[in-house]
Amino acid sequence: MKQYTNTPVIPKKPGLIRSFWCYAQPYRRHIVLALCIMLIDTISSLAAPWPVKLIFDSVLLHKPLTAPWSQIIPTAVAQNIMLLFAVLCVVLLVLAIVSALATYYGMRLLTVAGQRVIFDLRCALFTHLQQLSPSFYDRQRLGDLLTRLTSDVQTIQDLLVMALPMLVLSVMIVASMLIILLFINPIFSVLGVVISLCIFFVLRIYLISIKQVARQARRQEGQANAVAQENLLGIRVVQAFGMEAHSRQRYQEMAAHTLRLGERSADLQSGLPSVVGLMTDIGTLLVLGIGGLLVMRSWISIGDLLVFSSYLSTMYKPLRQLSKFSNTLTRASASAERVLDLLQTRSDVADARNACEALPLRHAIAFEHVHFSYDKERSALEDITFQVRQGTMVALVGHTGAGKSSILHLLQRFYDPQRGAILLDGQDIRQFTLASLRQQIALVPQDPMLFRASVRENIAYGRPQATDEEIVAAAIAANAHDFISHLPQGYDTVLEERGVGLSGGERQRIAIARAMVRQASLLLLDEPTVGLDAQSEEKVVQALERLMAGRTTLISAHRLSTIQRADCIIVIDKGRIVEMGRPADLLAQHGYYYRLYALQFHLQDQTQTTSMKVLRRYS
Ligand SMILES: Nc1ncnc2c1ncn2[C@@H]1O[C@H](COP(=O)(O)OP(=O)(O)OP(=O)(O)O)[C@@H](O)[C@H]1O
Ligand SMILES: [Mg+2]
Repeated sequence: MKQYTNTPVIPKKPGLIRSFWCYAQPYRRHIVLALCIMLIDTISSLAAPWPVKLIFDSVLLHKPLTAPWSQIIPTAVAQNIMLLFAVLCVVLLVLAIVSALATYYGMRLLTVAGQRVIFDLRCALFTHLQQLSPSFYDRQRLGDLLTRLTSDVQTIQDLLVMALPMLVLSVMIVASMLIILLFINPIFSVLGVVISLCIFFVLRIYLISIKQVARQARRQEGQANAVAQENLLGIRVVQAFGMEAHSRQRYQEMAAHTLRLGERSADLQSGLPSVVGLMTDIGTLLVLGIGGLLVMRSWISIGDLLVFSSYLSTMYKPLRQLSKFSNTLTRASASAERVLDLLQTRSDVADARNACEALPLRHAIAFEHVHFSYDKERSALEDITFQVRQGTMVALVGHTGAGKSSILHLLQRFYDPQRGAILLDGQDIRQFTLASLRQQIALVPQDPMLFRASVRENIAYGRPQATDEEIVAAAIAANAHDFISHLPQGYDTVLEERGVGLSGGERQRIAIARAMVRQASLLLLDEPTVGLDAQSEEKVVQALERLMAGRTTLISAHRLSTIQRADCIIVIDKGRIVEMGRPADLLAQHGYYYRLYALQFHLQDQTQTTSMKVLRRYS
């Protein structure tokens, strides 16, 4: 099976089948073999009516064998009626067994290939989703994405695994029967073609209408799932505000819309088999009528009529099946469009064509006149220029919404700036591969985001090859070893999703240990102590100080106590740098930073004594 390092490159806007062919291609041998086996099945189905014809004409009605049967069947057998009867019965039995075996093996091969194709598609889709930049997720609803990844892919699987093998077999049978009928009796073949074409057009009209409804239904289902997902994730807030009834009503509205669409599509679908059934019945009646007349005039034998009517009824079977599978077919085609749409979404941030590997920081990170907006309307950062020299600690402070996190996002290339550049040792970070750039960075986010895995695995997330000793050493340095040791299974305790069950401070310390094992040259800390009480904060700050020792650090902080040791403080206001310098210098300036500081430490503004107090904190 394939390795999922990269999504297969899909050419822009080809047809659905061509777009998905790249997933089926690795299994083309399976598919060709399955088709060959199904061909045997088709041939045995085509041959089956002929022994029946011979039984009627030559055994029951005692007519002499005509060409080519008189040449194929040895005279000794042809002259002994009972022997001929027995041989024809055995041939029928053999054909039935061959057909059964071929159906089994052919279907099995195609089904297995279909399942593997779906497995590859699912993995490729997940890989692709992981590569898309955060700007994509800003615009998407998670519930809808999950619907595409799960139920849309499942619908395509239903088609590939259940319906398609049957349809392929049916199409092969219809085509070969029409060709044979053309040779035997053109009247019947014209009749067959006309009726098949009528059915085909009726089917087409139905399928187009059903597909439109199916498309809307899939979209609506995605929306309903998005509402469910959002409400379940925020269940605490929903319950705390007593909004259960409101949430239920919103979900019911969405689900009711899906129900209405389902009813409309059921309406269309239920009519289809009846219409197709009626048309095929009329077709059979026509064959019997015309055929009966021909038999009465002795233009054809009863056996011939049996062969024709058996061929025509075999031909109608797949058309009937197609009408039954219309639901699967249309749903799958609507789902395939949605999946393809996702696969064709390109990430806003991607490796440049000749991107090179980023090396550990040696000199400095520099922002040069960076302008950035998330939505191209409201500016988030304007003309940001500053430097972080290797081994120093630079702190970003400012009111909420000032743009601190945005600076950290840009440095990790979650987004690219619209103007200006970010340089790592003098080279634009857009010239590096994303993976190698992020390899140089250890992040402690504001929300630590732990995974449902053991504590050990969560810490090793920073560097999967970290040894047990390194993990424990990181936990000790992060002030986390003590509380981890008191967990029921210590480092092997499996955490709940998002680290539920641990306090905010404990989660934050695991996140610090995770950053510690990463051994990256650049450390990014986004509000690492926000929401912690004084005691937790003290432990986290101690851990951070160990983490920052010897590393280049860019930290965003509301709590100024966290950043008293910073080499440089950058004050941001409404996306612009309004002050920058050493903490003591900024305090002495009595500007923005001084006011922030005074506010946090409850100092009286503008008095000589407070200035002295403030300055003393730094001495
Ligand atoms: N994903 C996003 N899409 C659109 N706008 C965003 C997005 N994230 C942030 N913003 C906007 O960008 C501006 C800067 O946000 P940012 O998160 O950088 O602020 P911050 O200084 O980190 O604030 P805080 O201290 O509250 O974390 C804000 O006005 C915010 O509304
Ligand atoms: Mg922030």
